[in-house]
Amino acid sequence: MKTANIILAGFMGTGKTAVGKKLAEKLYRSFVDMDALIEEQAGKSITRIFAEHGEPHFRAIETNLVEKLSQQQEQVIATGGGIVLNPENIRNFSRTGFVVCLKTSPDEIIRRVSGSRHRPLLEQKDRSARVHDLLTKRKPYYDAIQNQVDTTGLSVDDVANKIIVLFQKYAN
Ligand code: S3P
Repeated sequence: MKTANIILAGFMGTGKTAVGKKLAEKLYRSFVDMDALIEEQAGKSITRIFAEHGEPHFRAIETNLVEKLSQQQEQVIATGGGIVLNPENIRNFSRTGFVVCLKTSPDEIIRRVSGSRHRPLLEQKDRSARVHDLLTKRKPYYDAIQNQVDTTGLSVDDVANKIIVLFQKYAN
């Protein structure tokens, strides 16, 4: 189990990418950012994928990528916030990996995503209301993940260290 993938799930702005990079560095593992990989493979941004092909197309690409990544080992994977919407994704990842959900308070999330221009689901007038709405709808999916780390008030380094402790328990 020491070679299991570590998969970071959680809402937009919970720090999956920053924490994932730090974790990969600490554990001498390779880091995969699913959104960045999808953009690279599609040759276009997530915003353009949503605009030109629609959200269902993006979700299908995500699910295919989950299947591929689940077959590899020893990676730290930062997922997109909507990965939980298809339960098959979490099931696939859990077969070969340790899935952790990062949690952050709604106020902190709103602060972090306020300047973001690359999140098509947040391109609405009242961004704060949109975040609250999506968080409410998705809460059951995030809550269903067994391992949770509350990042409130913690540095990226602190969060990475917390995940390492949890992972060591899982792997031993
Ligand atoms: C999404 C989150 C984004 C990205 C896409 C959809 C979501 O990733 O995958 O815009 O549905 O929550 P981040 O969580 O990295 O922002």
